[in-house]
Amino acid sequence: MTITLRPATEADAPSIARIATAAFADSLSPLIFPRSQLATATVTEADLTADEVTWRTSMYIKRMREGKPCVVAVEVDESTGEEKEILGSAHWQKPGPEGPEVLGVEVRPATYDKDMFAKVVERFTTKDKETLGPRGHEDYWYAILISVDPKQHRRGIGRKLLNWGLAHARKEGRDAYLTATDAGVPLYEVCGFESMETYDCYGVPLTSMVWRLDKNRQ
Ligand SMILES: CC(C)(COP(=O)(O)OP(=O)(O)OC[C@H]1O[C@@H](n2cnc3c(N)ncnc32)[C@H](O)[C@@H]1OP(=O)(O)O)[C@@H](O)C(=O)NCCC(=O)NCCS
Repeated sequence: MTITLRPATEADAPSIARIATAAFADSLSPLIFPRSQLATATVTEADLTADEVTWRTSMYIKRMREGKPCVVAVEVDESTGEEKEILGSAHWQKPGPEGPEVLGVEVRPATYDKDMFAKVVERFTTKDKETLGPRGHEDYWYAILISVDPKQHRRGIGRKLLNWGLAHARKEGRDAYLTATDAGVPLYEVCGFESMETYDCYGVPLTSMVWRLDKNRQ
């Protein structure tokens, strides 16, 4: 079996959403799908997971339709060329101004805390501008979301997904930027990112990290 990368399609969205839901279970997910809802008799852990997969699926599709490139890592059987499962994904945003938002795609399940999601996005945006200046990450290759199936960690998949965007940044003479959870920091450091600032996002520590082309010439 070999692991290769290919562009994601909308048909991949449920699989990559399931992986992201599992990968972020210990960090950002409980903010957006509050576990306090489990105190009611009507909501179960399985409901929250299913609702998060539904929401994330719609968000992947929304961002794809907004022109944000998404790449998946897939396991391929070399002897037959047959694609097996999806192992992880990275959603990137190319340098340039944020285009128009695609409306009407995002699905908002009842257990999703849309006000908290808006606050988290606002925190990211404010910090990006504090760290990088008023244009935020507009001049950078920006990694929106990278996640690898928790059963497949430490096989080099995260590095491959990250290097996909960094190769584009190199080709275009750009720097790269992302916001890391604690789980992501070691990967990003080993790939040449530097921590700018660690801050609190409603109880979740996040780190703004920059990859400078001039320090990462090959
Ligand atoms: C972060 C994440 C994407 C890493 O994916 P991965 O496929 O396991 O990473 P790789 O196998 O490519 O790791 C490459 C190198 O990064 C470093 N690294 C990765 N995970 C690490 C960890 N948990 N602890 C220490 N170093 C780590 C190591 O140097 C590793 O090389 P090695 O395995 O030869 O020692 C994955 O753990 C994940 O999906 N986590 C949950 C979601 C998340 O936090 N995403 C990032 C949010 S910004």
